[in-house]
Amino acid sequence: MEIQWYPGHMAKTRRMIAEQLKHVDAVCEILDARIPGASRNPDVDALTAGKPRLVVLNRADLADPEATKAWGAHFKKQGWAVLETDAKSGAGTAKFSAALRTLLADKLRAYAEKGQAGRVVRVMVLGIPNVGKSTFINKVAGRKTAKAEDRPGVTRTKQWVPVDRGLELLDTPGILWPKLDDPQAALGLAFTGAVKDEILDTETLGCHLMAYLAERYPEALKTGYKLQALPEREGEENDVAFGWRLLEAAGRRRGFLISGGEVDTERMAKILLDEFRSGKLGRFTLEAPQ
Ligand code: G4P
Repeated sequence: MEIQWYPGHMAKTRRMIAEQLKHVDAVCEILDARIPGASRNPDVDALTAGKPRLVVLNRADLADPEATKAWGAHFKKQGWAVLETDAKSGAGTAKFSAALRTLLADKLRAYAEKGQAGRVVRVMVLGIPNVGKSTFINKVAGRKTAKAEDRPGVTRTKQWVPVDRGLELLDTPGILWPKLDDPQAALGLAFTGAVKDEILDTETLGCHLMAYLAERYPEALKTGYKLQALPEREGEENDVAFGWRLLEAAGRRRGFLISGGEVDTERMAKILLDEFRSGKLGRFTLEAPQ
């Protein structure tokens, strides 16, 4: 399996973070609650050293609630504030401002003592592509505008998005790239759609996801695809071969047949990925805190 990514873009983000860091009081790192480890960019710690951090476990609506709690406790132990959100519906986002003010309580007290009680708190939002940064910013700021995009020839005048009278966000989120050297993490990113399908062949990815679900969440698979029993792994059979037989079983049940009575496993793989990503198969968290 080979996943390509675009490390060149990191240079731009690094510059942006370095330039803007001195203007912000805190960093808001948005993670995917289904893969809080794999959706972290480990460089964030070095890039934002010393800044108070709020970790947002986004897509909590698609993750296992118990696992999200465990991850929250894990991040809190590192001294970070944690917020669980579903940026799409807005659930949890109303607590953003209060969570930040709690995180920055000492700093705000110090401002007040210096007679700067009304000083605006500024926050930089960071996260990997597609994790929900724009949706989150629009939701907490009550904006209806479309995704912020870098368009050549368009001068961006507004740098800061107000959340309330005393809180502003940098309007262009910092896009960081996930690390793909760990194959398990790379698969988690691909299953959840953080890494685009064009990079991996859909059918192979579907085989891996089937094998994973058969091992970890067999009941969800049985229910989702109306299978009374799942095929068993045969001997030393690898994930792709085993997963392919599962795709075949599920596809047959759905009636995805092509000429000669064969199952259209590619179609089944696409459906599996769509249903997994949209939450139709259930709520899953793919990794536990170490
Ligand atoms: P980005 O700026 O980090 O690149 O991500 P963006 O906000 O564009 O969000 C990417 C996709 O994820 C969007 O879906 C968005 O609606 C969805 N999303 C963001 N946060 C959540 C969440 O907490 N839960 C769920 N279930 N989905 C979330 P899309 O398919 O691009 O568009 P649409 O489905 O909203 O039309």
